[in-house]
Amino acid sequence: MHRPRRWRRTPALRRLVAEARLSVDDLVAPLFVREGIEAPVPIPSLPGVVQHTTGSLVEEARRLAGLGVPAVMLFGVPERKDPSGSGASDPEGIVQVALRALRRAVGDELVLIPDLCLDEYTDHGHCGLLDGRGGVDNDATLGRYGEVAVVQAEAGADLVAPSGMMDGQVGAIRAALDGAGFGEVGILAYAVKYASALYGPFRDAVDVTIAGGGDRLGYQQGPANAREALREVRLDLAEGADAVMVKPALPYLDILAAVRAEVDVPVAAYHVSGEYAMLAAAAANGWIDRVAVAHETLLSIRRAGADFVLTYLAGEVAETLAGGGR
Ligand code: PBG
Repeated sequence: MHRPRRWRRTPALRRLVAEARLSVDDLVAPLFVREGIEAPVPIPSLPGVVQHTTGSLVEEARRLAGLGVPAVMLFGVPERKDPSGSGASDPEGIVQVALRALRRAVGDELVLIPDLCLDEYTDHGHCGLLDGRGGVDNDATLGRYGEVAVVQAEAGADLVAPSGMMDGQVGAIRAALDGAGFGEVGILAYAVKYASALYGPFRDAVDVTIAGGGDRLGYQQGPANAREALREVRLDLAEGADAVMVKPALPYLDILAAVRAEVDVPVAAYHVSGEYAMLAAAAANGWIDRVAVAHETLLSIRRAGADFVLTYLAGEVAETLAGGGR
């Protein structure tokens, strides 16, 4: 008789045949930094996650580096927002200030990846510039993304991560970086980004409300489409993406596996704010075991094909892995 259970009898046997592993090397911690605050501000819908001051951001980055987390993704919350999102490309804008402080503090110990978008900086909350009719002007936005990429590179970014889902954004950013002498700065493309209701807590974290009760269905992907995701990936690679991301993670593991099978560049997955919030809420009620579900979730995202995972769980999972796991 075939007995698959022979491999399950002891922990050592099970370890020997594990097809996927979760390591601290696979984790990227998303961090929020807010302009003009004196102390960190908790985010109610993301329990355990805060909007950092530049000082507390540096402390948290040092802690994560000490735990062995290799990378952080940075989001800025500016004091003032305007129609063109000018804070995103201001050399004194919050993310640029934070990048310089992080680089001074941790050197090359952490890969620094700023999110590259306008929505945190625009007063209308969209990811691009508006045209006369309240729609998002794709091609006008590309020039803005190029400007943002160059100031982020000047401030010390290792990679930039465009998340706005404008057509042609990777090519425009690559050209802007190369034109400014930043050929070594890479692009982690949010290639496959669904218009997901799971971004809700994130919008609290960055104080974004889309004007007029609007949504992003005109530029982010609809959850029904899988083939379209592969087309987005091919386009981003043709435009020069160095890595591609699938986002959110758990409801889109089929997409992640298909992307993994299609490409040979690194593949990332973003376990987003709503996914984290659901886990945290159920755990807070005592309905699930927080640590066990966190590990199972991230391991499953790895198994489906992600080389690395952006997750608000990065710090605590790094701690439990350092303690011998579970
Ligand atoms: C856009 C951006 C979003 C997220 C990352 N980058 C929000 C959006 O598209 O509305 C969501 C991340 C999360 O939910 O954790 N700058």
